[in-house]
Amino acid sequence: MRIAVAGGTGRIGRLVVAELERTGQEAVSLSRGEGVDLLTGVGLRQRLEGADAVIDATNPPVADIAEAEHAFATITRNLLTAETEAGVGHHVALSIAALDAVAGNPHYYGKRAQEREVTAGTVPFTIMRATQFHDFPAMIAEWTVVDGEAIVPPLLMQPIAPADVAAALVATAVGTPLSGSFDIAGPRTEDAVDMARRTLAVRGRDLPLRAAWRDAALGVEFAGEVLIPGPDARLAPTSFDDWLAAGAR
Ligand SMILES: NC(=O)c1ccc[n+]([C@@H]2O[C@H](COP(=O)([O-])OP(=O)(O)OC[C@H]3O[C@@H](n4cnc5c(N)ncnc54)[C@H](OP(=O)(O)O)[C@@H]3O)[C@@H](O)[C@H]2O)c1
Repeated sequence: MRIAVAGGTGRIGRLVVAELERTGQEAVSLSRGEGVDLLTGVGLRQRLEGADAVIDATNPPVADIAEAEHAFATITRNLLTAETEAGVGHHVALSIAALDAVAGNPHYYGKRAQEREVTAGTVPFTIMRATQFHDFPAMIAEWTVVDGEAIVPPLLMQPIAPADVAAALVATAVGTPLSGSFDIAGPRTEDAVDMARRTLAVRGRDLPLRAAWRDAALGVEFAGEVLIPGPDARLAPTSFDDWLAAGAR
């Protein structure tokens, strides 16, 4: 199959392209760095020629709720319009588990706008809602460094390996559209502060951490069990410990 990957140069997109090639599919990456701007549609239509499916792993930079809703909705509408013209039969969107349970975060508003567009569109679709990736705590530690100390919110999560996300996206794209969504998570719950500390240690990054909600990149709307998916979530195999042991990449 010929499968286009929107955001194919990103953290997850690169792994999706590699997984498509490993499994004998033809991958077409769509990103601004490759001449395709999904916000304007420039370069998009030609690159979708002959594509059977599209996996959307984009992550446009956004500053606030309005910009997030606009960017995610516009990118999705542009993709769906071009997919209709090109006869694409399956749109797969990478979304976030517990999306409806978190209020107040701009990225989550953007992702809800993305899901609304996908659901209202005419292209057969599947929405895959993944939990936070294994490298998420180390990433947010780098977002807020105050006086040489990273502020990490004490999130409870059930994280998933990035490579497992990519494998699940590819398996979904080559399958039958669900016209709905499913949740996918890693095998066990983890504590974000512990994860960040251990990831930075494996990577040889010397950065002191402080557990706190105040001043952290994510607020108390993420506290408690809000990020833990329900019992119907599919479980991916790679634990956080396995991922760390393999080098935390
Ligand atoms: N991190 C997590 O724990 C987590 C959990 C669940 C779901 N997700 C979802 O995973 C998705 C992917 O995240 P990521 O961390 O892999 O993203 P990322 O590394 O930031 O990559 C974003 C990709 O989108 C492309 N892009 C951005 N704006 C674009 C535009 N206007 N036109 C074309 N391409 C554009 C970028 O390429 P250019 O800059 O070259 O355009 C890049 O390829 C996000 O939507 C996020 O919500 C993340």
